[in-house]
Amino acid sequence: MKALITSGGRGTRLRPITHTQNKHLIPVANKPILHYAIEAIVEAGITDIGIVISADNADVPRAIGNGEKWGVNIRYIPQEAPLGLAHVIKISQDFIRDDPFIFYLGDNMVIGGVKRFIDRFQAEKSNCHLTISKVKEPSRFGVPDLKNHHIIGVEEKPEKPKSEFAVAGIYLYDHTIFEAVNAIQPSARGELEISDAHQYLLDKGYRITYSEITGWWKDTGKPEDLLEANRLVLSTLQNDLQGEIDQQSQLAGDVVIGKGSTIRESHIRGPVIIGENTKIENSYIGPYTSIHNETIVRNSEIEFSIVMENCRIENVGIRIESSILGSNVEIIKAKGIPKTHRFILGTQSLVELF
Ligand code: G1P
Repeated sequence: MKALITSGGRGTRLRPITHTQNKHLIPVANKPILHYAIEAIVEAGITDIGIVISADNADVPRAIGNGEKWGVNIRYIPQEAPLGLAHVIKISQDFIRDDPFIFYLGDNMVIGGVKRFIDRFQAEKSNCHLTISKVKEPSRFGVPDLKNHHIIGVEEKPEKPKSEFAVAGIYLYDHTIFEAVNAIQPSARGELEISDAHQYLLDKGYRITYSEITGWWKDTGKPEDLLEANRLVLSTLQNDLQGEIDQQSQLAGDVVIGKGSTIRESHIRGPVIIGENTKIENSYIGPYTSIHNETIVRNSEIEFSIVMENCRIENVGIRIESSILGSNVEIIKAKGIPKTHRFILGTQSLVELF
């Protein structure tokens, strides 16, 4: 069994964060999104992993490396242009050869690992095993048509969805998928659609089975979605206190505090993760907040937010909530007269004032 993970795409819907960062490397609970895919695959016992990258961008290989960290082999497969998910599979045939494989879209996250899907794929002797999940807007996804617990059709982003499910970005295949991706034609948007490959398999009478999953997340555009992924992961957090916490501080719920971090005269209500070498002073950190390394929070309150590396939040007079701060961001109280708000914001930043 091998694994194939995607990591390309421009992440336009998560700007401005993605102006400077590949969306797969955005931290959720202080860990790049892509790590969750790799870890789920490693946990399932797979050691040969191919990661498909945009040919013009080396950020992912630079950040992830050759797999040594996880005791696995990672090979990078460049894709010249974003020509669709079925195209990703097509160009990976040399790497996959005749092996069965898990295809994991690197911007998807699932709580509870992937081994259960691999087990069912193997036990049911399927040619293809899909994961499906109930969603609010199926028309943004590949949508299965279900009849008596069988998938009888799959449509990509249909105007009139035939079910309330989305096909999630975790798929299992045997070699028959190559027949499909080599036979289908580009869609109206010029891509080889993965849903068309699934429909091809159905039309040819191949066996497609599925698992219904909960605890699945996929970025669908808004910052709230990223915060939702953060919430999902933090809800599985377990207490681990490595930093220094003074007597005046109070901690409640599950809290992780990394090495070299100090908490003084503060109130932390978990689930909260705080990275390494971060300082929290005279502040309140509320549930579902991730604060990364080398950051300072002083005389401030923050809740349900993601704060990336090397930020400074000081003397902010109002609680910060539902916010995402990229690395090296500062929110500080202005000094002197006139009493004004002052902003230095990059393109596509968003500030909401009360
Ligand atoms: C892709 C697939 C779609 C699937 C989704 C899951 O959509 O084409 O079938 O439901 O991933 O993440 P895209 O992310 O390209 O919009």
